[in-house]
Amino acid sequence: MTVVIDGKKIASEIREELKSKIEWLKSLNIRVPGLVTIMVGDNPASQSYVKSKGKACGEIGMHSKVEILPVETSEQQLLEMIDFYNSNDDYHGILVQLPLPKHINEDKVIERISPSKDVDGFHPINVGNLVIGKDTFYPCTPNGIVELIKRYKIETSGKHVVVVGRSNIVGKPVANMLLQKKEGANAIVTICHSAAENISIYTKSADILIAAIGKANFITADMVKEGVAVIDVGINRVEDSSLPKGYKIVGDVDYVNVSKKASFITPVPGGVGPMTIAMLLQNTFLAYIKITKQKLD
Ligand code: GUN
Repeated sequence: MTVVIDGKKIASEIREELKSKIEWLKSLNIRVPGLVTIMVGDNPASQSYVKSKGKACGEIGMHSKVEILPVETSEQQLLEMIDFYNSNDDYHGILVQLPLPKHINEDKVIERISPSKDVDGFHPINVGNLVIGKDTFYPCTPNGIVELIKRYKIETSGKHVVVVGRSNIVGKPVANMLLQKKEGANAIVTICHSAAENISIYTKSADILIAAIGKANFITADMVKEGVAVIDVGINRVEDSSLPKGYKIVGDVDYVNVSKKASFITPVPGGVGPMTIAMLLQNTFLAYIKITKQKLD
């Protein structure tokens, strides 16, 4: 029997847990956690993500602000805005929505965010801490994946995890998280990518397969073994004229056929996607706790 992993349900449980903690803070008249999301330009996908992040904060009573800057904003102006929020006590998390326009250096921007407010976990200090297993902010999508694996009690210790995709946002961090000698990790990890001549050689030996490629239905049933646990990170638009929108969202995995062989599988939508925002809220709460504790010490 195949277990369909309900990311929507788990994400909603996490949001409820955070909501009660924030209600408790409010009842004591204490400052609540705050998140600022900064976006440059008018990329429609980014606009939609940024809006959902603001809405999610509001729903759990978290303080939030969305800064939408015009596309011609200079790198210097953006850096100055980050400096402002780095030293603003009302905001514990700072997220700069990527991608940025070409005239702005993304690395420079990420490095300007205070590591203690880097709720995306993209700052090189936080990335380094993740790799060496020290306290850090785990990037939201990888953290969501690991949380789903834990909550569904999927064994990772000594198991072969195959990650397809080597992005800095998903592939590399999730591989490093599952590699750590820790409970809920301790896996044997392979990362494969577009240079592999025959990717099936790797995917077929996976006990847990994490697909983060960005290509619709890329992983087919002949590429996996019986009993595999499948985590699909893809969010791809494919044309479907029978739908009012004219398209549908599918993952990187051929869900219908792969689910016949899988022990666990995440659907798209409703699998990993809802976890990303829940983990962003969790990271903001964590940043708030760390910053508040530092002030008291
Ligand atoms: N753009 C796409 N995904 C992300 C993300 O997780 N964080 C940020 N900052 N930008 C993104």
